[in-house]
Amino acid sequence: MIRLLTQDDFTIWKAIRLEALKEHPQAFSGSYEEESLRSDEEWKKRLKDSCVFAYFDNNKIAGVVGYYPHQVKKDAHRAEVYTTYLQSNSRNKGVMSALIQALAEHARKSGIEQLELDVTAHLSEAKKCYERNGFTVYGTKPRTLKIAGKYYDTLMMIKYL
Ligand SMILES: CC(C)(COP(=O)(O)OP(=O)(O)OC[C@H]1O[C@@H](n2cnc3c(N)ncnc32)[C@H](O)[C@@H]1OP(=O)(O)O)[C@@H](O)C(=O)NCCC(=O)NCCS
Repeated sequence: MIRLLTQDDFTIWKAIRLEALKEHPQAFSGSYEEESLRSDEEWKKRLKDSCVFAYFDNNKIAGVVGYYPHQVKKDAHRAEVYTTYLQSNSRNKGVMSALIQALAEHARKSGIEQLELDVTAHLSEAKKCYERNGFTVYGTKPRTLKIAGKYYDTLMMIKYL
C-alpha cells in the first residue's frame, strides 16, 4: 500500500529517514548525526513543507520518497526529490517505481513541471531506478559531498512532467 504521509506520521517518518541515513551515508546529503538531534516539531515541519510518499508492507513502513516544491514564484514550477529509500527486502520488486509514479502524479497535479535530484555518482542502482522512471542526467557536480575526508561527485538528474 502506498500513501502520502501527514504530520501525524512523524514518528514512522523519523524512524525510516534515520534508518536510511545510517545505512547509506553516501546516498544522502543529510547525516544521521545531525538529523537524530532534531525535535519532533522539526520532523513534523518537514512533512508539512514537503510531500512524502510511503510504501507499507503488512502495515509497516518499508520505503519512502518525497519532494520539496521550490518556494519562490520564479522557480515554483520545480521540485526537489529527496529521501529515496527502500528497506532491502522491498527492493527489486518495482516498489520504488510505483512510489515515484505516485509522487510524479501528485507533483504534476500540484502544478509542478519538473522534478530534479542529485544522485551520488557511484550509486548505480539508484541511477538506474531514476532512469527507469524517466529521469535523465544533465550534468555532474564535482565534490558535492565530503564524508570522512573523501569527496563524492553527484549526477544532476531531471524529469519533465
Ligand atoms: C535506489 C533504490 C530505492 C532502488 O530500488 P529498486 O528496488 O531497484 O527500484 P525499483 O522499484 O525501480 O525496482 C526495479 C527492479 O525491480 C524489478 N521488478 C520486479 N518486479 C517488478 C515490477 N512488477 N515492476 C517493476 N519492476 C519490477 C525490476 O526488473 C528492477 O530490477 P533490475 O534493475 O534488476 O531490472 C534502492 O536500491 C535503495 O533504497 N537504495 C539505498 C538508498 C539509495 O541509494 N537511495 C538513493 C538516494 S539518491
